Amino acid sequence: MQLRKNIVAGNWKMNKTATEANTLINEINQGLSVLSNVQLVLCPPAIYLESTRKNANETISVGAQNCYCEASGAFTGEISAAMLSSVGVSHVIIGHSERRQIFSEKSKMLSKKVEVAIANGLTPIYCCGEPLEIRETGLHFSYVKSQITRELFHLSETDFSKLVIAYEPIWAIGTGKTATVEEAQVMHAALRNHIFKKYGKDVADGISILYGGSCNAANAKSIFSQPDVDGGLIGGASLKSADFLTIANSFVK
Ligand code: PGA
Repeated sequence: MQLRKNIVAGNWKMNKTATEANTLINEINQGLSVLSNVQLVLCPPAIYLESTRKNANETISVGAQNCYCEASGAFTGEISAAMLSSVGVSHVIIGHSERRQIFSEKSKMLSKKVEVAIANGLTPIYCCGEPLEIRETGLHFSYVKSQITRELFHLSETDFSKLVIAYEPIWAIGTGKTATVEEAQVMHAALRNHIFKKYGKDVADGISILYGGSCNAANAKSIFSQPDVDGGLIGGASLKSADFLTIANSFVK
């Protein structure tokens, strides 16, 4: 029995002009086969969210790369979760390592972002992952588990069940260095076990945990074949339709 959803989400980051974005969406629409076992999510820059929702095949979900933690008001440059919902966005990436590192987003703010996203009917794609120096000390399991404890474990069981988690070792993002299939699997299993201890079997078995970090058309199949890996959050390789579609078709389970 399929316990949880397979998901492939494309994080375009700050890439593509409007014309390029439309070309990519059209190519993805055209190449879409019957993907019964995977949910695709496109996460373009915010300025293209509405056009992506209009142009992408209706089976494709649209996600934002960020949202703000307050409902409305004097927050120049920010976008609320309610605004995202109002234009047909269904997912939002929260806590990406680039937001944590470049924009100094801290745990308290990320917890709040997760809460407002859920309150507005969005599915947070919550990102966690360790930097290289933590991996080298061997403390990566406790580092990532404590991110989850600190930022998510105040949620009710019902709200926690609405999350998608993306494990993204920071040293693998955009570097061409992927975690090995075994490294991904053991971390995903450890995170699922951590969730099991807090929320029980149904929640732990039901939550999709995606891998992110140099996942591409050549390695997706072996990464996705792991029992605790339920798909990927794809950066660079989501910018080319052929690669993204190959990744979307990489589920064998
Ligand atoms: P990458 O990015 O696939 O380019 O490594 C992944 C991400 O940052 O989500």
